[in-house]
Amino acid sequence: MAARIDIPLASLTAKPAGAPAGRDASPAHARSFYIETFGCQMNAHDSEKVAGLLLARGYRQVESPESAEMVLFNTCSIREKAAQKVFTRLNDFRGPRGQSKIVGVLGCVAQQEGERIFERAPWVRMVCGSASYRNLPELLAEIEAGDTRVTGLNLDTAETFETEVTRRDNPFRAYLTVIEGCDYACSYCVVPHTRGPQRSRASDAVLDEVRHLVQNGFTEVQLLGQTVNSYRDPSAAGMNFAQLLRAVAAVVGIRRVRFTTSHPNDFTPEIVHAIDSTPALCDHIHLPVQSGSNRVLKQMRRTYSRAEYLEKIEWIRAAQRRSSVTTDIIVGFPGETDPEFAETISLLDEVKFDGVFAFKYSPRPNTTAKDMTDPVPEEVKSQRLAFLQQRQREIQISRNQTFLGSEFEVLVDGRHESRGQWSGRTTSNRIVNFASPAENLLGQYCQVKITGAGPNSLVGEQCG
Ligand code: SAH
Ligand code: SF4
Ligand code: F3S
Repeated sequence: MAARIDIPLASLTAKPAGAPAGRDASPAHARSFYIETFGCQMNAHDSEKVAGLLLARGYRQVESPESAEMVLFNTCSIREKAAQKVFTRLNDFRGPRGQSKIVGVLGCVAQQEGERIFERAPWVRMVCGSASYRNLPELLAEIEAGDTRVTGLNLDTAETFETEVTRRDNPFRAYLTVIEGCDYACSYCVVPHTRGPQRSRASDAVLDEVRHLVQNGFTEVQLLGQTVNSYRDPSAAGMNFAQLLRAVAAVVGIRRVRFTTSHPNDFTPEIVHAIDSTPALCDHIHLPVQSGSNRVLKQMRRTYSRAEYLEKIEWIRAAQRRSSVTTDIIVGFPGETDPEFAETISLLDEVKFDGVFAFKYSPRPNTTAKDMTDPVPEEVKSQRLAFLQQRQREIQISRNQTFLGSEFEVLVDGRHESRGQWSGRTTSNRIVNFASPAENLLGQYCQVKITGAGPNSLVGEQCG
């Protein structure tokens, strides 16, 4: 199968009219920066915010570290491999290659490791966690004034990062932060340590940004938060998450509203009702379960049982709209036995998820699970992961077969040149590759009839 060719976003012709100023907006003599992003969508969006801040300060964004005076890594610490990757990448800038540049580490590894980064990579000049990005202009001024090392590591809970000068990399789907941090304390997870406590953004600020996005040509937004559905409006409007969803969907010009990630504990029937009665709310729910075993869930401190999770799936399945449901799973949590792993497999068989992101448990600093005894051997973790992925692949193949002959609306966001196909997503976030004689469909909504189905995508023909 030919690999998907991603079109460089800068070259897309279907950029929304009046989109925020991009890479070419600054004068050529301005100081140049390059930013590389690891991790989740929240990090991807943070990089957009950071780039916006720098552009507003007169910096110029470039596409390669070679041509940049400042090289920034926005990092992820969720599993050891992710954090390790950052240090490997930083090592590329050891010696003469890095000497002439300002190298900065942002994001979750920055927050977690703090000044220790300077010890491991002394050529790094800036270490700054996500809660301190609003201080970036001051940090940059210090660097420009000649300070050798600067840090922004305050997890100040009163401050929610907001900036109007966001530039967006994806011209079709605009990310939007509605809640930062996390107040759960899952025993395996670094996020509460790297992103701090939960802070929701005022609903009027969210809605203002949505209106602004519409003016800039966006029709699809994705609301972001580590536990997005724990949203609690701090302003007088006092919206809960379902009310916020309805309000965002009601903004004139918005056609699709996505949201991620939902925590099962805060997932309510009201959210299902909102989706069911509001076509602009996308019928896709990412609801990480992590394990099918009650004992393991308890050890993970997930705050729900298998039965409680399944009850939420029942609410979703009882609705009129056939929402897709995806999940995250961790295999090989300390002490996970074969029968407990089998319970996770039986949960997959029962729910028949539309997609699963599965990970081998990775012990992380500052987490309670790190000190748990009875680790699962690496080869057992690998076997469990492979077994689970194979089973899920079969589930997805048979699930996707049920869509043959159906019609979906697809928002086109890419092109496979070699196959002559357009590519896009349904409201339920399914990838559809399809044939069409049209010359350019990027950014358009098309009706597509499904003629083929694989485990991870559907194939079709444009029918309207
Ligand atoms: N806030 C989301 C998850 C964020 S992290 C939630 O509560 O569901 C994304 C996923 O990474 C998690 O759902 C989990 O499956 C995985 N993950 C987190 N910490 C991990 C660890 N220490 N080892 C392996 N996977 C982990
Ligand atoms: Fe991590 Fe749990 Fe918070 Fe998700 S809910 S970010 S897994 S601590
Ligand atoms: Fe990684 Fe931080 Fe996101 S640890 S998954 S980048 S919140």
